Amino acid sequence: MNSVQLNPTPSTARTPLNSFYFPTKNRRFCGSTIRCAAATAKARAFNITLLPGDGIGPEVVSVAKDVLHAVASFNGITFHFEEMPVGGNALDLAGVPLPDETLSNAKKSDAVLLGAIGGYKWDNNEKHLKPETGLLQLRAGLGVFANLRPATVFPQLVDSSTLKKEVAEGVDLMVVRELTGGIYFGKPRGFDKDENGDEIGFNTEVYAGYEIDRIAHVAFETARKRRGKLCSVDKANVLEASMLWRKRVIKIASDYPDIELSHMYVDNAAMQLIRDPKQFDTIVTNNIFGDILSDEASMLTGSIGMLPSASLGESGPGLFEPIHGSAPDIAGQDKANPLATVLSAAMLLRYGLGEEDAAKIIENAVQETLNKGFRTGDIFSSGKIDLGWYCLFQKLVGCKEMGEQVLCSIDSQKLAATQILIKFVVEACGGNADS
Ligand code: IPM
Ligand code: MG
Repeated sequence: MNSVQLNPTPSTARTPLNSFYFPTKNRRFCGSTIRCAAATAKARAFNITLLPGDGIGPEVVSVAKDVLHAVASFNGITFHFEEMPVGGNALDLAGVPLPDETLSNAKKSDAVLLGAIGGYKWDNNEKHLKPETGLLQLRAGLGVFANLRPATVFPQLVDSSTLKKEVAEGVDLMVVRELTGGIYFGKPRGFDKDENGDEIGFNTEVYAGYEIDRIAHVAFETARKRRGKLCSVDKANVLEASMLWRKRVIKIASDYPDIELSHMYVDNAAMQLIRDPKQFDTIVTNNIFGDILSDEASMLTGSIGMLPSASLGESGPGLFEPIHGSAPDIAGQDKANPLATVLSAAMLLRYGLGEEDAAKIIENAVQETLNKGFRTGDIFSSGKIDLGWYCLFQKLVGCKEMGEQVLCSIDSQKLAATQILIKFVVEACGGNADS
């Protein structure tokens, strides 16, 4: 076999990660001067590459695009969207799952929003012609090594979880998954024959120290912004790559004495996530364990249709995508839940563009939509929901209607903010805004 190869060492330019950890100050109401956001805030213009992809991807991305448009007008932001093919639709159009134009466009943009890729049609393609290969090439091409996958149980959806209410209630964790290394990319890999002439398939789980160090830093910083607890998940009782992982994470921990670090083997972590998920705050793990554990964590929340993700690198744009797949069985039927993509758009604003206010508006709108009882099929459980302070009846809606409801809620936030601003200005001028 060939010797093990590593990804090239990356550069260290200004990064989306830097802007996340040192976010831009709120630029709308600075100092004591009263300013009208729409009139005087410095206009911010961003280029967004949209990669709707396959299956339900185009439906959910279309909703998220409308939502981004809606918050933009509210916040003095201008978006320029460019839609490009990736995955199965790129295979059909251009014969490859990631055309060069798609990658170069994505690299030049400020952030990339992806729907989902894959479908039955391409399932039997050779590996280099699989839609999934396009996604991995995109992640590698953008250098987005840090994948943040939050799993939060919304109080309105606690009954959608398959776990008992007392176990699921209050779960709020973040999986920090290493995304551009490990067994997904390690070499050597391939198919061969063994000494008996039997077929073999092989992959290599490999991590270099720098790859572990940089994801560990992201994870410690993430834990610091949350509840200060980090659990590093590995298989250090068996795998050398995990032994190195644990050693390097422990070394990096000395830079973060305020963070409580623990270690867990991945088999135990899979069990603990079901037994007592509230013990977790931030989890950091390698590419393949993160893939598996984040799907498991999503089910704590009731539906994978609710979970967004952000993938960030050391420089260049971040990649934002729901963690669900392309769901070809319901594609084109207006049944998909767009909220994971809408929440990914919120992550795009927060982590990708430093637009915290706009991100919050989207998240509030999602909360309000759920509070009003709107549910797509994946999160619908017939009957009323007892929220403690009131009971509400669920309304089963499709993807488009769910999007409309989120837009309505953004509009009502706009209205409320405008009313507050008018009252503030009138009062500052000595008038009575209520008269
Ligand atoms: C994910 C997906 C991808 C992965 C597939 C589609 C290549 O499962 O984003 O979790 O394995 O990373
Ligand atoms: Mg996965």
